[in-house]
Amino acid sequence: VDVLKFVSKWLHLLSIISVFGSLIFAWLVMVPVMRKHAIEEEEPSRAIWKTLGISLGILWLVILLTGFFNVYVVSASVGKAYHTFLGAKIALALLMLGLSMAMFHPAPAFAQFRRNRPQWLLALVVLGAIVVGLSAHLNLSRLSGAALERPADVSR
Ligand code: HEM
Repeated sequence: VDVLKFVSKWLHLLSIISVFGSLIFAWLVMVPVMRKHAIEEEEPSRAIWKTLGISLGILWLVILLTGFFNVYVVSASVGKAYHTFLGAKIALALLMLGLSMAMFHPAPAFAQFRRNRPQWLLALVVLGAIVVGLSAHLNLSRLSGAALERPADVSR
């Protein structure tokens, strides 16, 4: 089981690093270069967005599977405060998932999101930074013992 815990944490981190890195790269490099050359709606830009969208979709699947496995691993040993932060983290993570879907899915309904790609990319990067911060707090609060539920807590 320890191996499984390790693999899950490892994959969680790898997939998040990949998503976060891709979003920063898209915001800092791809959008400005495509704009400069006015090729945002032409090939190969469209193909690049499509391939990126598919890669992010697969990475998100890994994030969710490993994230919920992490929850399963820690939830029995942690208290209310931890669960509150965890709830906030999950809500923001799902918001990120929804936003990335809206931005990369080619459905006509999402045209508005594609037009405002730079803003939405920035929003995703900011949300990602907050979620990583919440995660660091979750981890540290467990390591310091602050998050761990003591028998006395049950009565509160
Ligand atoms: C619904 C989706 C997600 C769930 C259920 C989830 C759940 C978890 C849980 C329970 C942990 C263990 C924390 C601890 O050690 O106490 C964790 C670790 C972590 N998560 Fe997530 N997560 C999700 C999505 C994300 C996203 C979107 C990001 C980043 C943008 C992220 C970043 C991290 C990081 C960086 C850690 C490692 C913290 C550390 O060990 O220092 N997670 N996740």
